[in-house]
Amino acid sequence: MNENASRPPCALIVMGVSGSGKSTIAAKLAARLDWTFEDGDRFHPASNVAKMRAGHPLTDEDRWPWLQAIADEIDRVCRAGARVVIACSALKRAYRNLLVHGRNDVRIVFLNGTQALIADRLARRKGHFMPPGLLDSQFKTLESPEPDESPITVSIDASVEAIVEDIVRHLGAESPGRNRT
Ligand SMILES: Nc1ncnc2c1ncn2[C@@H]1O[C@H](COP(=O)(O)OP(=O)(O)OP(=O)(O)O)[C@@H](O)[C@H]1O
Ligand SMILES: [Mg+2]
Repeated sequence: MNENASRPPCALIVMGVSGSGKSTIAAKLAARLDWTFEDGDRFHPASNVAKMRAGHPLTDEDRWPWLQAIADEIDRVCRAGARVVIACSALKRAYRNLLVHGRNDVRIVFLNGTQALIADRLARRKGHFMPPGLLDSQFKTLESPEPDESPITVSIDASVEAIVEDIVRHLGAESPGRNRT
C-alpha cells in the first residue's frame, strides 16, 4: 500500500474545475460520513473577496494566504480529533502541496469529467453566472493529480449518490472498518 494512504484521513479535499460538483459532492459526502463540510471559498481574505466582486481575476500571490488559511483549518480540525470534507478547486499541484503540506492524513478526491459534461451542467445551474471562457481557462489551468499524490479519482458521469458511494468505497477499502457508518 502507498505510504501516503496508510493513515486514516482526517481531511478530504474535494477538487476539480468549476462545475465539476465540488460543493454538491463534498456536502453529501460529509453528511454520509458524519464529518463536517466546509466550502474553501469561505477562507478567502476580505481583499480577495473585494477583488473577485470587482470582476478581477485572482493571482497566485492572492491565493497563497487563502490556501494557507485552509491548511491552518485542516491542522486545527485534525488536532482536535475531528474530520472535515473541504470543497476546493485546487487546480494546480502547488496549491495542493500547500493544502496537504506533507500530511499523510489529508486525501485528495478528484472529480474527473469531460468539459462537455461540465459545460452542460453549468448551463443548467441556477443562480450562478458563468462568464464565457471561464471553463476553458479552468481546464487549461488544471493539473490533474499525479500518482504520488495518492488521489481518489472518481468519474462525475454518475448520480450524486453513486459518486458519494464510490468515494466511500475507496476510503473503506483502504481503512477497513474506519469509514463505515
Ligand atoms: N453528479 C451530478 N449529476 C447531476 N448534476 C450534478 C452532479 N453534480 C453536480 N451537479 C450539478 O452541477 C452543477 C455544478 O455543481 P456544483 O455547484 O456543486 O459545482 P462546483 O464544483 O462546486 O462549482 P464552483 O467551482 O463553481 O463552485 C450544480 O447545478 C449541481 O447541482
Ligand atoms: Mg462550489
